[in-house]
Amino acid sequence: MSDYLDTLKNLNLRPNKVKVKEHTEEILMEVDIPEPKQILQELFIQMGEISNMPSGKRKDMAILRLAIIAEYDAASLYEKMAEEVSDKNVKKTLLHIANEEKVHIGELEFLLEHVDPEHETNEEKGEEEVMDLTGLDAPPNE
Ligand SMILES: [Fe+2]
Repeated sequence: MSDYLDTLKNLNLRPNKVKVKEHTEEILMEVDIPEPKQILQELFIQMGEISNMPSGKRKDMAILRLAIIAEYDAASLYEKMAEEVSDKNVKKTLLHIANEEKVHIGELEFLLEHVDPEHETNEEKGEEEVMDLTGLDAPPNE
C-alpha cells in the first residue's frame, strides 16, 4: 500500500486527502490522487519504459506485473461506475465486466507464477507474515 501511495505522490498530481489504515488505526493522510486519465497515461509511460528493456524473462515479468496493475485499475473503475449509474441493467453489466477483469488478474497471476520462479515463494512468505502478524488463518479455499 505505501509503495502505491509513494507512486501516487511522485506523479505530481492534484492534492487530496485520503484515509489510510495503518495496522488497525485509521489516519488521515495528505496524498496526491491521480485522475483516471493520468493513471492510464502512467501505465502507457511505464509500458514505454518496459519497451526499452531487452527481450526475455525480466521484460515478460515487467509486462505481466503492469498488466495486473491495469486490470486492478479497470476492475476498480467499473465498480465505481456501477455505484454511480441508476439504470439497473447498466449497473449489472458494469459489475459483470468488473468481475471479468478480476478473472483476467487470475490469468495474469497464473502466467506470472510460471515466468517468475520467485513469485509463488514470495506470495507464500507474505501470507505467512500476515498470518503471524494478525493471527488470521489461511482463506478457506486454500
Ligand atoms: Fe481485463
